Amino acid sequence: MAATPPLSIEDRIRALLGAMTLDEKVGQLWLRQGDGGTVSDALRSAIRGGRVGGILNEVDPEVTRELQRLATEESRLGIPLLVGRDVVHGFETVFPIPLGLAATWNPDLVESCSRVAAEEAAACGVNWTFAPMIDIGRDPRWGRIAETFGEDPVLTGTLAAASIRGFQGETLADPDSLAACAKHFAGYGASEGGRDYNSTPLTERELRAVHFPPFRASVEAGVASIMPSFSDVDGIPATANPFLLRQVLREEWGFDGLVASDWNAVIELSVHGLTEGDREAAREAALAGTDMEMASHAYTDHFQSLLEAGEISEAHVDEMVSNVLRLKLRLGLFDHPQHREQIRGGPRLDLAQEAAVQSLVLLRNEHDTLPLNRERIRTLAVIGPLADEPYEQLGTWVFDGDPEKSQTPLQSLRQTLGDTTVVRYARGVETTRSLGRDGFADAVEAAQAADVALLFVGEESILSGEAHCRAELELPGAQAALIDAVERTGTPIVLVVLAGRPLALTDVLSRADAVLYAWHPGTMAGPAITDVLLGDQAPSGRLPVTFPKSAGQIPVYHAHKNTGRPPTPETVISIGDIPVAAPQTSVGNTSFYLDAGAEPLFPFGFGLSYTRFEYRDVRVSPEAVPLGGTVTVRATVQNVGAVEAEEVVQLYVRDPVASATQPVRQLRGFQRVRLASGESREVAFTLHTDDLAIVDRDMRWTTEPGTFFVGIGGDSRAPLAARFEVTG
Ligand code: GLC
Repeated sequence: MAATPPLSIEDRIRALLGAMTLDEKVGQLWLRQGDGGTVSDALRSAIRGGRVGGILNEVDPEVTRELQRLATEESRLGIPLLVGRDVVHGFETVFPIPLGLAATWNPDLVESCSRVAAEEAAACGVNWTFAPMIDIGRDPRWGRIAETFGEDPVLTGTLAAASIRGFQGETLADPDSLAACAKHFAGYGASEGGRDYNSTPLTERELRAVHFPPFRASVEAGVASIMPSFSDVDGIPATANPFLLRQVLREEWGFDGLVASDWNAVIELSVHGLTEGDREAAREAALAGTDMEMASHAYTDHFQSLLEAGEISEAHVDEMVSNVLRLKLRLGLFDHPQHREQIRGGPRLDLAQEAAVQSLVLLRNEHDTLPLNRERIRTLAVIGPLADEPYEQLGTWVFDGDPEKSQTPLQSLRQTLGDTTVVRYARGVETTRSLGRDGFADAVEAAQAADVALLFVGEESILSGEAHCRAELELPGAQAALIDAVERTGTPIVLVVLAGRPLALTDVLSRADAVLYAWHPGTMAGPAITDVLLGDQAPSGRLPVTFPKSAGQIPVYHAHKNTGRPPTPETVISIGDIPVAAPQTSVGNTSFYLDAGAEPLFPFGFGLSYTRFEYRDVRVSPEAVPLGGTVTVRATVQNVGAVEAEEVVQLYVRDPVASATQPVRQLRGFQRVRLASGESREVAFTLHTDDLAIVDRDMRWTTEPGTFFVGIGGDSRAPLAARFEVTG
């Protein structure tokens, strides 16, 4: 007798739906906030009654064990729970913030970090993370830029897929795997004015060309769930936007996973002014394609009434419930609802340190101030409010980070240099926001006595992240004044900046001999920064986001349009150079600022090393490629400096003429290469003509025949030194 083949997931869904009451179906659509380390009677009763589909923000392993026991043993059908948590850049072991991870340009590293985070979270009974956050971040005023992988769709999409592979592992059913959730679909990073939750009046073309690609890459990578954004997307909030959630996500991309709302986003449809009251909000969100409701409970409150009134059908409810059950079945929760006790996996702190090292971006290094020469430094001044802050160095979205595990820069410098160098610490200012200058005298005294002054400045972690936006981007508080005071001692200054966003360093840059941008580097900030400052590791981070001179320059990013009047060296004039009583003219006018020019402070992809890399012989073959074919772009890169180091080789392409205007350049590939001093290597990128696709005049994603310019270099200023033709 042949064994009966196991039921398919779809068969199991159909069987469950057939057995479920309407109440039990609707219960699956509620993602309820946990009780924070306990199980209230109300929660106990709701789970027993099958009125909860998932819990978020419960990470006590004993509580999650009890919640799953209640669901699987004491509810009528024994349907297990989803247990969700924002595991964004680590769980207990904290890696650099996503913007810092993006600065590594290292997908394998990002995947490894997500994997370790999954193992740690899964050991607490979490089976779903609300990550990766893959909104395109082009506005440093926006607090959540800290959570993004930066401004570029290709870099973001590549790292998104890597993070999803890390979280979801080889199989979702692996007990160490978490279901990932690509968020926030879509366009959240374009919140007007960089003010969180603000409107995003995006055109369909901008959505398709800039904001959709990382989500499409996530769907192609098998992401288990999607979270719509809070945003009002061109008048229709994403949570109730059928264009996003049905036409694009389901019909165009074939996504068959779960769509779960953001916190209270369903009932906030009425705050937006799209609906009047929770009942209408529930209807609009459900019909548009939001399967599960996070926190608020408009679905459980109003579905009965909506069904009775025929405003939604049970077939539609079944479709929503199927998406929830499918995820639970894919996670294997029906077979192993309880989590593994102990954390498995390899060394986590080593990985955290490597990730932090690769995230560091050297922005300035006059007179080769860095790396510090241990032999010549007898006294080192360590100054600033962020040199010894175990919690602040972790950054935003670290609900479960353990500051006890943090190793701070001051600790590491003392441990590493303590025997040979006097390390003097002076805080200078109480916090990054403090205006008081009482601590300046100590800082000045420490600097005066030192061979080098290391200033750890920037932003506390709470100054970025959700709902923490800034209208100005300068160093907060009295930090710039502190830098001035230290500069007046004449002691060389190294700025180490910890922040959750690009800061406008314009006014302090010239006061520092070197600037190392550290974002918020996580648990192992100390050893990582020490390794790079002392030259044990060369900096290899590259900017995943453009640094503006000031907030006034925003938006400023590399993949910008040419306009009909692009700035030129001849036409860009400074406000101070305009002749008095200059007559107005319409001749020679181009697009720039009188008080900020046309260039950012630092361009996308930029980062210095302790060596130098030179590029030559950029060449393409074939020089004409038919649609559907491939073209290979090559260059020779050489380490012309004295130390071995890693470079991030970047490939940029421009489509100069198309049926809709295209950016002056777009990242189309990147790779990290390690070169010994003097070593040359040929690097190659192979592009399929599909990789050159644009959103054409008719909103189709297509590649148009014509000329393409291409360049390879170490940042987004790489000359587009070669060209090829795509033939029809
Ligand atoms: C927040 C965020 C979202 C997060 C959710 C749960 O408001 O917008 O990214 O996953 O709530 O914490």
